[in-house]
Amino acid sequence: MSEETNWIDFDPSDKTPADRQFLLSQLVVPRPIAMISTIGEDGVLNIAPMSYFLPITGSPMLVGVTMGLREDGEPKHTFLNASHTGDFVINITTENLAEDIEIVAIESPHSVNEYELANWTPSESEKIKSPGIAEARARLECEIREVVKLGETGVPFGEVNFVIAEVVWATYSEEILNERGRIDPLLLEPIGRLGLRSFISAGEKAVFSLERISWEQYQSGLNSD
Ligand SMILES: Cc1cc2nc3c(=O)[nH]c(=O)nc-3n(C[C@H](O)[C@H](O)[C@H](O)COP(=O)(O)O)c2cc1C
Repeated sequence: MSEETNWIDFDPSDKTPADRQFLLSQLVVPRPIAMISTIGEDGVLNIAPMSYFLPITGSPMLVGVTMGLREDGEPKHTFLNASHTGDFVINITTENLAEDIEIVAIESPHSVNEYELANWTPSESEKIKSPGIAEARARLECEIREVVKLGETGVPFGEVNFVIAEVVWATYSEEILNERGRIDPLLLEPIGRLGLRSFISAGEKAVFSLERISWEQYQSGLNSD
């Protein structure tokens, strides 16, 4: 950093909840996007993207998702549905789903089948009640194991339910496997959430590789200049 750099101090104690969450959302990037599909008590299908999402451990296969409040102060429909059935599907957000991310993020009324908004197709799950998205290249069927209430109660950008769930089944397309049968990130083409309105595609165009360089190679490169 040059000596002229002006540093901004951020003291959470004199900021609003929105400012605090904004900072986290702009700096903790890129984040994977769980495209979560659920079914309501009345059978209405729901989809919502959630990027406050992380893998926790492999045995059992646990994942965590932070579900906040809707703009009307009510819990997300995703949370209500998942609490009722005890399950949800994490559809991995990939390039083929990208253009509809914001469409299914619209806080639509409960009666709206969000598959119709995006023109996606529900796909019956193997182990759970919530269907997955047929167009998704990979689907994780999750059963809720624990819900931890965190954040300031009743406050938008505060109160959340941190949902810890076990992946009890996974399904993925052969199209994302390389010649050695391993999931290849370039074939998966996952989408990441960046700050502001930006997303990143980890498909072929956006990914690059760097070779490891030994000290000897580095030195000989310098000497040949
Ligand atoms: C890329 C992206 C990531 C999001 N991540 C989250 C998240 O992690 N948690 C959350 O509660 N809402 C998140 N949202 C907002 C929800 O998707 C949005 O409120 C959605 O309409 C909730 O729908 P529901 O009430 O039908 O569950 C995100 C939105 C976008 C576009």
